Parts: sequence; structure tokens; C-alpha cells
Amino acid sequence: MEKLVVEKSMNLRGHIRVSGAKNACLPILAATLLGTEDIILEDVPKLKDVEIMCEVLRALGAEVEDLGGGVVRVNAKNINTYETKYELMSKMRASFLVMGPLLGRMNKAKNSLPGGCTIGARPIDLHLKGFRALGVECEEHYGEDDDGEDSYILAHTENLVGNKVYLDFPSVGATENIMMAAVLAKGRTIIENAAMEPEIVDLSNFLRKLGGNIKGAGTNTIIIDGVEKLYGAKHQIIPDRIEAGTFMVAAAITQGDVIIDNVIPNHLRPVISKLEEAGCQIEEFDESVRVVGPEFLKGIDIKTLPYPGFPTDMQAQFMAMMTQCQGTNTVIETVFENRFMHVDEFRRMGAMISVDDRSATIKGGRKLVGNKVYATDLRCGAALILAGFVAEGQTEVYDIYHIDRGYEDIEAKLKGIGGNIKRVNE
Ligand code: EPZ
Repeated sequence: MEKLVVEKSMNLRGHIRVSGAKNACLPILAATLLGTEDIILEDVPKLKDVEIMCEVLRALGAEVEDLGGGVVRVNAKNINTYETKYELMSKMRASFLVMGPLLGRMNKAKNSLPGGCTIGARPIDLHLKGFRALGVECEEHYGEDDDGEDSYILAHTENLVGNKVYLDFPSVGATENIMMAAVLAKGRTIIENAAMEPEIVDLSNFLRKLGGNIKGAGTNTIIIDGVEKLYGAKHQIIPDRIEAGTFMVAAAITQGDVIIDNVIPNHLRPVISKLEEAGCQIEEFDESVRVVGPEFLKGIDIKTLPYPGFPTDMQAQFMAMMTQCQGTNTVIETVFENRFMHVDEFRRMGAMISVDDRSATIKGGRKLVGNKVYATDLRCGAALILAGFVAEGQTEVYDIYHIDRGYEDIEAKLKGIGGNIKRVNE
């Protein structure tokens, strides 16, 4: 079993480069199923989750070729089934994003239920609400355990017809799945209370390059006018704003001076604003940001919200930093119902954190001590590395497969700015 061994690493400095965004790449890979000619994707990050999505596409009959250097060629002209097998679905819940494109291409899709994970139940009711609005019959089959082999959704329709859909919550995945189903539907679809994340905009830009007719991505109302057919395209995945934010916190927490390259600063407004509130100096350039961490971090409060609010995927990383901020800091997690699994791990390193339902209070100025800790999800894993950089002694992070799902070569990148971190095979 692999683990990451992290030693105290103050004053990180130098350049660190961000990869393509996992949460843009996964829906865009799913969307390649809508194309009927060669598609070239650039800046595809080397991640476990991306490998699994490519496996899912191949299993559906698409050609998927890794051309090296982050370039992937996909051709979905000859997809030959509408069913994604359980063993693939169970590896990664984002495989559920192939439902929309398969409905668009084949008017039919069968997917086992994505099931929950440590951060929450991760329901799909809004995805199904959208498909049903487009005229799709969605049969829900539940076995004894709701994410087992015999629990699946069988969706089918005579024809996909555009409609108005209101999302009770601006769900990222539901917005993406409905967009991908609507792009080949007959007529107009309007998604109201749509998610506004940059990854939605990147998906929309990709679908438009394929020949789709989409307006309003990035706002809470997205208008899709169905077209007959989609073709091929070349597309560069946007940089990963969450990986960038993670490295910004690494500089902040270690009194570092780090330049993060391949960044769109505008995607990081809440993170930049909160780091400045904590006393960091931030310099923005066209495609990079410089973060200088102060000697003493001021206390801050965060509340996670859908974009453009503070990103839930940055909550664990900020909590690691808050253990070092002065005074008492609070976190309110409004997006997922169980996203404080990292608190116990921080406590094992000496943090003083109290949790009451969806809010956490973090006592600042705490000396952390290295310990054996476990990544419960990919962002918790990244946050434990950050905590290990400021803790006295050695921190051993286990279950690092979570981290490899969302961070490409994380130890090589962090070593490059002076981080004392190594991957060890136990
Ligand atoms: C995407 O997940 C991201 N994953 C998550 O990133 C991210 O945390 C999340 O968006 C929020 O930004 C990918 O893009 C692959 P949601 P998604 O649907 O689409 C509720 C990471 O660390 N909901 O916006 O699953 C749901 O329960 C991962 O990279 C419904 O109620 O998120 C949750 O409380 C973690 N019904 C809230 O919406 C539905 O049908 C947000 O979920 C769908 C969602």
C-alpha cells in the first residue's frame, strides 16, 4: 500500500504549474460521445478518474487514444451500446455523466446508480427531473443495496424534445447531463437555476465547437436549441482552479512565496479574496498568480456556496490553514451534508475543531504534530499534505488513491517548490 510521507516544509518558493481541470475534463470526455468525427482534447490531466472515464468510453464503442503530452483523441462515430456496466460505474460516480450524451445519440441509456460517497448521498433526482422534462422515461431499479449491481436507471425515449427545466439546486452534474441530452433534442431547452461554474462554461464551449447551439452558460439560465448532428473539434481543457487554490494555500500556510502557473485568476475570486483577508499578498498576472504568505495569518470565516461563491472543494484545504490563523475561525458547509470527514484527521494532528451539523469552529494558532492520517476524499488528502507541511515531525498520509484521482503528480509538483514529501510503498 502506498503512503505519502510529509515533513515540515516552511517557506515554499518557486513556480508550480497547474494541470487541466478534472471537473471540466470528465464532462467533456462524456460529451465526446455526442461527436461523430475525430475530437482532439489538449491539457487532459493524468488522473485515475480520467483513465476510468476513457475506459467507460471505450466500453461503449468509442475509439480513445492517448497521443501523449496531455493530448487525447476520441472518435465516438461507432458507439455500439447504450449500457455502462456496473464494475465501471462503481469505480467513479462521474461516469453517470454519460447518460445525457447517450440519450442524445441513442435515445436510450442504462447506468447503474452512482451511489454515495463519504461527503454525501450524492442523489441524482435533478438529473432524472431534467431527462423526464425532455420526454425521457426513466425507470429506476433498486436492488437491496442502492448502489449494487442490480440498482440501475434505464432511460429511453421515442424522441428527445426540448423543454424548460428548473433545478431546485444549481447542481453541476445535473446541469451538465441535461445540457448534453438537450443539445441533440428537438427544439429549445431552457435550464433555470443552472450551475454557473467555469467547468460548465468550458463544456458549453466544447459543445458549441462540435456544432451545438448553446447560450448563457456561466449564468443561471442556459438556452440550448437542439441540432441534428454534432461533428468533431479540438479543445483545450481549462486549468484546474481547485488544484490552483490548493497550491495557493500551500504558499499561504508555509509563509511561502510561490508563483502558480496556468491559472485563470478570475476563476479564483473567492479564494483570492479570503487569502487576502488572512493577510496574504496576492499578485495577479494573465495566466498565473503569486502568493506570499504572511508571518502571522489573520483569522477568517468561510461559507461554501455554489459558484461564484466559495468553492466546497476548497473547504478542507482552508480548514488546514485555519488551524494556523489567529483567533477562532468558522466554516459553514452548505453544499454537501457530510463534508467534515477531514476534521477527525486534523484532530489527530493536534487541531482543536468543534463541529455542529454543517458548521465547524477552528481554534487558530495551534501547533500541529505529525501523525498517521487517512485521506477520506481527494480534497481531504490534499489538505492533510498542507497540514503536514506545518506540523512538527513526520506526517504519514494513507489512502492516497483518493489524492491520485484529482491531483496529477502532486508530490513532484510540491517537491519543485521545496516541499518535503515522498511517496513510499509500504
Ligand atoms: C461536482 O459534483 C464536482 N464533481 C464536485 O467535485 C464538486 O464538489 C461539486 O460539483 C460541487 O461543486 C465533478 O464535477 C466530477 P452537485 P456534483 O450535483 O456534480 C445535490 C471534487 O472534489 N444534488 O453540484 O456531483 C447534492 O446532494 C468533487 O472534485 C441533488 O440534491 O455536485 C449536493 O448536496 C467532489 N440532486 C449538491 O446538490 C441531484 O440530482 C451539489 O451537488 C444532484 C445534486
